[in-house]
Amino acid sequence: MNTSQTEIDVTCTVNGRSVTVRTKGGDRLIDMLRDYLHLTGTKEGCSIGECGACTVLMDGLPVNSCMVLAGQAQGKEILTIEGLKHEDGDLHPLQQAFIDAGAIQCGYCTPAMILCGYALLQRSPRPSVHEIKQAISGTLCRCTGYVQIIEAVTLAADRIQTKGEK
Ligand code: FES
Ligand code: FES
Repeated sequence: MNTSQTEIDVTCTVNGRSVTVRTKGGDRLIDMLRDYLHLTGTKEGCSIGECGACTVLMDGLPVNSCMVLAGQAQGKEILTIEGLKHEDGDLHPLQQAFIDAGAIQCGYCTPAMILCGYALLQRSPRPSVHEIKQAISGTLCRCTGYVQIIEAVTLAADRIQTKGEK
């Protein structure tokens, strides 16, 4: 039997919305997000778990969606970059901070970097530089040199804590 043709219904929560997606055996989480749900903010780089561009959050933790089978998302909560924006269209403080700190150049790593930052701030609202470096260490940026990315996460944490931004 060619398992790649086996259809699998995957029910999970994506960006706060319950979805059921009919996938094919062998489909990865990134395929489900980009090809079936059209959430193209999640980027594919290396496809082998090295670059981190495809990072999304699964039950609050960063995962490389190119290395996760779609079926493994069954019953899970998935957060992609599209889920961070507020319903009124306002950007999440992390998204705004990346803009303000000049932490985006080509932007290919940006969704992953922001989601790694988001996961970090959930568990450590005022992270040290060391914590930020650890949190983004699984994602490669070929453009920025990382300094502005670290500044952006620090800036977002400060705005959330001192100004109550959400
Ligand atoms: S595309 Fe998934 S880690 Fe590079
Ligand atoms: S901004 Fe280009 S890869 Fe990070």
